[in-house]
Amino acid sequence: MKAAYIKSTGPPENITVGDLPTPQPTGSQVLVSVRAAALNPVDTYIRAGAIPMNIPLPFVVGCDLAGTVEQVGREEKHLKVGDRVWGSNQGLLGRQGTFAEYAAVDACWLYPTPAQISDETAAACALVGITAHLGLVRDAKLKSGETLFVNGGSGGVGSMVVQIAKAVGAQVITTAGSKEKAALCRELGADHAIEYKAEDVAARVQEIAPNGVDVWWETLREPNFEVAVPLLAPRGRFVLMAGRDARPAFPVGPFYVKGCQLYGFAMFNATPEEQRAAADDINRWLVAGKLKPRIDRVLPLEEAAAAHRLQEESTVGKSGLLAGKILIHP
Ligand SMILES: NC(=O)c1ccc[n+]([C@@H]2O[C@H](COP(=O)([O-])OP(=O)(O)OC[C@H]3O[C@@H](n4cnc5c(N)ncnc54)[C@H](OP(=O)(O)O)[C@@H]3O)[C@@H](O)[C@H]2O)c1
Repeated sequence: MKAAYIKSTGPPENITVGDLPTPQPTGSQVLVSVRAAALNPVDTYIRAGAIPMNIPLPFVVGCDLAGTVEQVGREEKHLKVGDRVWGSNQGLLGRQGTFAEYAAVDACWLYPTPAQISDETAAACALVGITAHLGLVRDAKLKSGETLFVNGGSGGVGSMVVQIAKAVGAQVITTAGSKEKAALCRELGADHAIEYKAEDVAARVQEIAPNGVDVWWETLREPNFEVAVPLLAPRGRFVLMAGRDARPAFPVGPFYVKGCQLYGFAMFNATPEEQRAAADDINRWLVAGKLKPRIDRVLPLEEAAAAHRLQEESTVGKSGLLAGKILIHP
């Protein structure tokens, strides 16, 4: 099969697109014919060797996929040949990735793709949608009528946080890097989109939510607690999920006296049951039209290295060049 893989970690140029043996599904795995795969920042960290992760070599890059079941392992009793499925959490913790014509995936990480939803849409929601759901629903327990602030509403995770928070019934305040991206956030349902390069974000949040925000979701790799903590409401929840190297100052007193809580997580450590609970809601919201992933561009597998470079420049280099997910067609 055709696959995008690395033989050693390093820069995007380490990615080769070539032939690898088609994997055989064993146990509760199924073989998925991959029709669309989505790129996430974590794919670039793993490829670069920037986060410690056990990877089998040659290693197929990529976490997200959507496609059709082609073969079923002996122990899998629910999925059958021809089923359309989507999923994430591949290319992690020793598992092979998804940027290939085929992927052997344990059925516990796969969800049915609703008939009216395209493979591209399903793949684009996978890791980012599950992440947003885990943080908002499992951890922060966002409720209807509450106010949420998400820093970076135009990004992959942020755009899912905006829409899931609206689906839950919250008021949503977010930030974006330009007038155009702020308009995109409003199209996704944000009640307020602040242009972080042109406006005083703290002053605007204070003005919109004078009693504070109930949930603050930080997508930046350098959270600023000195700014954020005073803007939290009593019993506010703060969600952190980026910035492994960040060591910011933390105003302890103002945080605990208000009874606030801090949540941190990495989606790939969530159990299959936790991820499936997220996927069930994502499917429901996709069908209801409440969740629409933003797709910036669709590239052929041959462009995998260029796609990695672009993602890196955008997320780490803050080039602002992307406004949505990069999808790959194997
Ligand atoms: N823990 C987990 O499970 C988990 C899961 C997924 C992702 N992550 C991490 O979460 C981070 C975000 O991922 P992503 O896929 O959403 O990345 P992304 O699509 O590149 O989004 C990054 C966002 O940051 C915004 N931004 C940049 N500088 C900003 C600033 N000064 N103020 C406010 N917003 C700013 C960008 O806005 P503009 O483009 O509008 O400028 C963009 O919307 C990454 O570090 C990723 O590794 C962690």
